[in-house]
Amino acid sequence: MNQHTAISDSFDFEGDYGEGYEELARALIPGYLSSFRQAVALLEGRVGSDPHVLVVGAGTGVEIITMQMIHPTWRCTGIDPSRQMVDIARDRIVEAGLGHSVELRNEYVHDLPQDIRFDAATCFNVMHFLADDGSKEMLLQSISDRLSSGASFVLFDLHGAKTDPEYDEQYTAWRAYWRIRGMEEKDRLAFQAKIETGIRWIPESRILQLLKATGFVDVRRFFRGLLYGGWIMKRS
Ligand SMILES: C[S@@+](CC[C@H](N)C(=O)[O-])C[C@H]1O[C@@H](n2cnc3c(N)ncnc32)[C@H](O)[C@@H]1O
Repeated sequence: MNQHTAISDSFDFEGDYGEGYEELARALIPGYLSSFRQAVALLEGRVGSDPHVLVVGAGTGVEIITMQMIHPTWRCTGIDPSRQMVDIARDRIVEAGLGHSVELRNEYVHDLPQDIRFDAATCFNVMHFLADDGSKEMLLQSISDRLSSGASFVLFDLHGAKTDPEYDEQYTAWRAYWRIRGMEEKDRLAFQAKIETGIRWIPESRILQLLKATGFVDVRRFFRGLLYGGWIMKRS
């Protein structure tokens, strides 16, 4: 870990939060599973028959499992700095009988060899934990540096400017969505405290600026679900 990879202690992927993460994500992230399928559908039209895809912040492996169930011949390298998340992902992938073309690495993207080149990459629900002090940019740059020219990248992240009235409306609605999805009041308050200390909000305009600065072009938004956004783009 270095100063540009640290995320808030509010989200401890080595502890209880990591263990219960997927159940929470399925309930609270609008379009959670559907967004993975949308990403695969979009990538289908852009990659060759057997691409090598980098899955950044692979978490419990659900993105990899989704991709592998649709395209068992796609090679996937999943990378995650949390040992617990890599172990969960490995077990889930093996259980699903899908491990043949999957490699899991317990490290950061910048630890990958400098000369490796992927045909595509995804980064779901990771960048919003990193501060906009060079950390978000370093993550994007280390992904960009490991993609072939013309390769596609899918980014999915929370976004918004706290000073924007639209943010207020969307954030209020997201909290209502937690209730509608069955979360108890005490759990909602605890989760809200995590969001307020651990999410490093930036508006879409800043995301686009960071993407441009790190070598991405032709950025198109394919998804919006309350404060979540999904963008697909190319490495220049
Ligand atoms: C919210 S989970 C997302 C998992 C999965 N992509 C999903 O959408 O379900 C965030 C993951 O990012 C990992 N992570 C934390 N800091 C990271 C970093 N600097 N680079 C890559 N992954 C990171 C965490 O260990 C965790 O597994």
